[in-house]
Amino acid sequence: MRLFRSGDGSPGVLDERLGEAQHARDGAFTQARELYLRASGTHRHPAPRILELGFGAGLNFAVTLADARRRDAWLDYWALEAHPLPLELLEAVLGRFEPEVFAALAPGWGRSLRLAGCGFRLRLEIVDVRAWKPPAAWASAVYFDPFSPRTNPEAWERPVLAAMKRALQPGGVLVTYSVARPVREALESLGFRVERLRGRGRKRHWLRAHRAGP
Ligand SMILES: C[S@@+](CC[C@H](N)C(=O)[O-])C[C@H]1O[C@@H](n2cnc3c(N)ncnc32)[C@H](O)[C@@H]1O
Repeated sequence: MRLFRSGDGSPGVLDERLGEAQHARDGAFTQARELYLRASGTHRHPAPRILELGFGAGLNFAVTLADARRRDAWLDYWALEAHPLPLELLEAVLGRFEPEVFAALAPGWGRSLRLAGCGFRLRLEIVDVRAWKPPAAWASAVYFDPFSPRTNPEAWERPVLAAMKRALQPGGVLVTYSVARPVREALESLGFRVERLRGRGRKRHWLRAHRAGP
């Protein structure tokens, strides 16, 4: 695994074994802000509860935390990760944006942990999502950010998407970068209303799926 500089100048991580980047090559920071933070409506939520599949280098978390602090919103963040990346890559990405959070995470890195800090609570669970038991109606938004359906198909299977639905509050949304037809169809068959959003750069579309309200 190695770092790369994405199109907007922010750092991303390339997994050479999979031949896939953890972050958008056109703009890692831009995707975190425009897709995960903004398209999910999290930037307007007074007390967001985020469930993330794929903590990776913590970029989505860092962007969401900075926004919540700026507007004095309390952030509750629950992230799942099967394969924590090497600490130096976490430092290069999360540590660049949130050095204090990185410093607090570093000693226990690699194990499940809980961290509370100024304006937030983070629960990082080291688990394969397929073995994870979702809470009912917990999250205001799901950041669905595993590797692609091509390289990481198990993360996109219907039982995983069903677990995300269970974890979402009624009226909550799941956002992701893949608009692949099997993903859309699986979400629709679970009762989500699925929208295609305009993407950025070479990624023409992103996806937002709404869980019906009560
Ligand atoms: C695209 S990266 C996530 C980038 C991250 N969201 C960020 O902001 O830096 C995908 C991550 O999903 C994790 N992942 C893939 N399959 C998984 C699974 N079955 N359960 C839990 N995590 C998984 C990978 O280990 C990888 O770290």
